[in-house]
Amino acid sequence: MSTATESQLIAPHGGELVDRTGERPDDLESLPVVRLTPRELADLDMLASGALSPLTGFMGREDYERVVEEMRLANGLAWALPVCLAVDSAPDGDRVALADEDGTPIAVLDIEETFGYDKEREAERCFRTNETEHPGVARLFAQADRYLAGPVSVFARQESKFPELHRDPAETRALFAERGWKRVVGFQTRNPIHRAHEYLTKCALETVDGLLIHPLVGETKSDDVPATVRVEAYRALVQGYYPEDRVLVSAFPAAMRYAGPREAVWHAICRKNYGCSHFIVGRDHAGVGQYYGSYDAQLIFDEFEPHELDIEPMFFEHSFWCKACGQMASAKTCPHSGDDRVFLSGTQVRELLGRGELPPEEFTRPEVAQVLIEAYRGA
Ligand code: ADX
Repeated sequence: MSTATESQLIAPHGGELVDRTGERPDDLESLPVVRLTPRELADLDMLASGALSPLTGFMGREDYERVVEEMRLANGLAWALPVCLAVDSAPDGDRVALADEDGTPIAVLDIEETFGYDKEREAERCFRTNETEHPGVARLFAQADRYLAGPVSVFARQESKFPELHRDPAETRALFAERGWKRVVGFQTRNPIHRAHEYLTKCALETVDGLLIHPLVGETKSDDVPATVRVEAYRALVQGYYPEDRVLVSAFPAAMRYAGPREAVWHAICRKNYGCSHFIVGRDHAGVGQYYGSYDAQLIFDEFEPHELDIEPMFFEHSFWCKACGQMASAKTCPHSGDDRVFLSGTQVRELLGRGELPPEEFTRPEVAQVLIEAYRGA
């Protein structure tokens, strides 16, 4: 294998990896405290580590407006979703402490501005709907009415739920370089890795040096499989079916927004910061319910010039096991009919597990199915 240096990896978004970690300030006790939601805490941690480079804090009005309307920051750089901190009113002074869910201060924010925003418009533009059944829209409508903006400095990083999988962008970059990987494909998932996911990742890996399996471990909706169970399933699968020296499993600390197409772009930009040159976008990426067309999350990449994102999306059609082909395939590669194709919806998988039955091997590897059924029995 060739060797690589970090300079041979893709550059972070905007050119430099941002670091917003800092020292605990002396005036901390005197500052007003803003307590963050799980989504905001996840964003804060990603601001600290540079996963959201070039952002240095929660967005101000100019960035926000242009992101919502044009998917660009005020300076023109591509950016797909708001990264904002909602508050009821403008705090006194020019600095606030940001606290975790227990009220423990972990960061400071230097206030640049507080501004009102239009939730209906943000929902329509970013989620393509304003229906409150959509979990991202529901969260947006439930949050406070103003946004507080300014650079942050994080002096106490949040405890990682999966310390052994915790790697900041600087760490994944260093590891990729150490392993001699230059072209690295990132794989976002909020599910156990079923055969279809495995197929996409392996097809992609055939053409690049390494694969970053990057499961999202921040907040998800209640009927998604919990991250603790998924992490166990990833371990079982990777041990049995992936070459150790070509794959890295690491946690992606973001919360799910379920914004489908825009979230696909946002996910890609974040993975670029972690050092990925390529990013997998399959069927209904980051989707929920019937809000997005199966390939909307691929089509949205046409709204950017290739050089704007730099990271290259790798698109995949809906994949399944075909009994006649005797292998994983998609409509692009398989001429057989629907009867030969094994595909189960998330609901069908949950029903099977609920009855104590394992999903078929063509859908889920037995090692993964075992982890899932045990979690289901224990639930
Ligand atoms: S997501 O919210 O993280 O997108 P999920 O974990 O199900 O959900 O999907 C991870 C990635 O795999 C996404 O890029 C998604 O589009 C893709 N994907 C999931 N299932 C399939 C499938 N059967 N065929 C093609 N792509 C798929």
